[in-house]
Amino acid sequence: MIDCAIRPFYRLFMTLDTATVVFEPRGTTATEAAITIDDRYVAHNYSPLPVVAASADGAWITDVEGRRYLDCLAAYSAVNFGHRNPEITEVAHAQLDTVTLVSRAFHSDRLGSLCSALADLCGKDMVLPMNSGAEAVESGLKVARKWGTDVKGVATDAANIVVAHNNFHGRTTTIISFSDDEAARRGFGPYTPGFRAAPFGDADAFAAAIDENTVAVLIEPIQGEAGIVVPPDDFLPRLRSLCTERNVLLIADEIQSGLARTGRTFACEHWGVVPDVYLLGKALGGGVVPLSAVVADADVLGVLHPGEHGSTFGGNPLAAAIGSTVVAMLRRGEFQCRSAELGDRLHRRLRELIGRGVVAVRGKGLWAGVDIDPASGTAKSVSLRMAHRGVLVKDTHGSTLRFGPPLVITADEIDWAVEQFAAALVE
Ligand SMILES: Cc1ncc(COP(=O)(O)O)c(C=O)c1O
Repeated sequence: MIDCAIRPFYRLFMTLDTATVVFEPRGTTATEAAITIDDRYVAHNYSPLPVVAASADGAWITDVEGRRYLDCLAAYSAVNFGHRNPEITEVAHAQLDTVTLVSRAFHSDRLGSLCSALADLCGKDMVLPMNSGAEAVESGLKVARKWGTDVKGVATDAANIVVAHNNFHGRTTTIISFSDDEAARRGFGPYTPGFRAAPFGDADAFAAAIDENTVAVLIEPIQGEAGIVVPPDDFLPRLRSLCTERNVLLIADEIQSGLARTGRTFACEHWGVVPDVYLLGKALGGGVVPLSAVVADADVLGVLHPGEHGSTFGGNPLAAAIGSTVVAMLRRGEFQCRSAELGDRLHRRLRELIGRGVVAVRGKGLWAGVDIDPASGTAKSVSLRMAHRGVLVKDTHGSTLRFGPPLVITADEIDWAVEQFAAALVE
């Protein structure tokens, strides 16, 4: 029995032959209807813009009313290769018709080729496949602690890991334990011990934070959620030397910055730095499936033995087939080039708005953090005005907007997006 009384906004239709239940909102637009259902049934852990996607293609999203929006967020870099990239969807369709999931209880004919290609792309020996970005981070932390105990010789349960202030590495209990973001932390304790933080960009502070029990430094090479914050040029090279000298693993969280987003395969490349461990996610799943990975040499990942870590869906054949295609696409280099060339254009056009509603522009490649002059409104209000003008961006930290479009965006589309942004600033 379904109790309609608790759903006052909906008329209930039941098609008995198919047993399909349809809730049709009374007297509302399709957008209002979808948002009303979301408000009622979806946990309120996000505050989305009032745009209801119905389909997407390349750099464009179409909503339930048929309005088109230029996507300048790309699902936080998970859609680097564009919505429904045909090369990726072709492989996904074929794999759907073959085998999708067997768990790691058996081998599949897809996982090995993904891991060998991805290890090769990273210049490392091995890959630990997982699903979400946060899982890759968790896995990287576990691997670092195990490495500390088994290889470095840190006493059991004494390991510490140094992170950066204003980091964002995901939402699990351990990860929020070392976040500075009170909204992400408050009420979720007790917290996981064993972390200490130093200011992002301050290599001396990192040096001071490292002691004999430090097993890893975990860093976003460019801080994404903090507002696309690029460190001083000496920061990552100095961290690299420090970690080598002190026998500490350098873990680069390239979940958002990696896989062509900044004009290079990995953001670390901008400073010629090779970390000991790469954490990858988002775009690795081609915008189709969650696929993440910890990538490192055998002396690091080799610390894991059967039963010590795992995931039912991690490295499933569907995700592995898609991930292999993503790696092959990255091998060609065209997305890195597009991001570098078009990113120059995006940054140049955005910088022209400094003093006209924009205070600062940061970033690399097709990834820009733009600080808004408070006189033009909050970043959220500007993003709403831009949505009305057909451009989707996301605010962060009150006064910053992020531009990170799919890398298939064209030069004309970038110009158009920045024109809409300029108009929204003075609306
Ligand atoms: C740098 C970084 N690490 C980890 C994550 C977590 O990824 P996921 O949302 O897939 O768990 C994110 C997500 O935005 C991220 O930007």
